[in-house]
Amino acid sequence: MVDSSESSTAGPVRVGIVSVSDRAYRGIYEDRGGPAVRAYLDDVLATPWEAVARVIPDEVDLIRRTLVELADEAGCCLVITTGGTGPAPRDVTPEATAAVLDKELAGFGEAMRAVSRPHVPTAVLSRQTAGVRGSALIINLPGSPRAVRECLDAVFAAVPDCVDLIGGPRLETDPSRVKAHRPH
Ligand code: MTE
Repeated sequence: MVDSSESSTAGPVRVGIVSVSDRAYRGIYEDRGGPAVRAYLDDVLATPWEAVARVIPDEVDLIRRTLVELADEAGCCLVITTGGTGPAPRDVTPEATAAVLDKELAGFGEAMRAVSRPHVPTAVLSRQTAGVRGSALIINLPGSPRAVRECLDAVFAAVPDCVDLIGGPRLETDPSRVKAHRPH
């Protein structure tokens, strides 16, 4: 496990990966969303990076505190959550995310839902959002591994420019997977 008290100025870029699921937290089933995020970033990021991973239950205060810890203390320039974006009573990841954002970037959720809709009619059930806290970009994804890939493919070309604009490290991608669009 990464020591989140270390300075974040040297070494690999840090990415927070937060799996939000009561059942994965209790060990009732294996977390599959977090590993899918990790595999996606291994595939797409050319910049050396390391994961700061958490598996937590669907508790709004805990999700909020985890996002704040990863953005403010662990020095993550990108924090990706997976799970808890739907309409069920325990799905509270978007509320927790909105509570810690300085700025919401609604385009992320719109793009991810639009891309997902031809794949699965229930894509409209995800309330996933994204936004900026300090110099961290926080993105919500649904819990299924397939959704993780489809949703990240929908938005990842915009991620390096966003991280540049908020004062984070320069993220390079493998252009054969995702060509980063950097107009600034
Ligand atoms: N988006 C994609 N691309 N693929 C999917 O399989 N599942 C949907 C939706 N978005 C899905 C998707 C379903 S069934 C739900 S309930 C919502 O995401 C919320 O999922 P979550 O509660 O795991 O976050």
